[in-house]
Amino acid sequence: MTNTLSHIAIAVDDIDKAKSFFELLTQNKSSETHLIEKQKVNAAFIAIGDTTIELLDPYGQDTPISNFLSKRGGGIHHLCIKTDRFDEMVEKLKSTGIRSLGDSSIGAKGKRVIFFHPKDTFHVLIELEEH
Ligand code: CO
Repeated sequence: MTNTLSHIAIAVDDIDKAKSFFELLTQNKSSETHLIEKQKVNAAFIAIGDTTIELLDPYGQDTPISNFLSKRGGGIHHLCIKTDRFDEMVEKLKSTGIRSLGDSSIGAKGKRVIFFHPKDTFHVLIELEEH
């Protein structure tokens, strides 16, 4: 089994400013900002090494990211770990009592993803992604 860091997602309230900063920091060009309708976000991706920083700007009111921004002002929203043994990992995590937030669904990249409850994962929302 190989598990690696897929991406770090950061909630932002000004995606253009955030893109400029992370482009400077990583010395990489960001993707175009695009709407992910299902998640109600405008997203942009910036590669760094083998991983990606994912900038998430809320699209509309009362969405998971807009609620996160009003509660916390922004910051790291979740870490995503990718695994080549998705079902096995879900089983392993759940068998230790870690609760998922709903069932797995198809993420932005067309792969299965599932989120785990931050109360069970040291207050960091964890996304597991099939690789
Ligand atoms: Co993610």
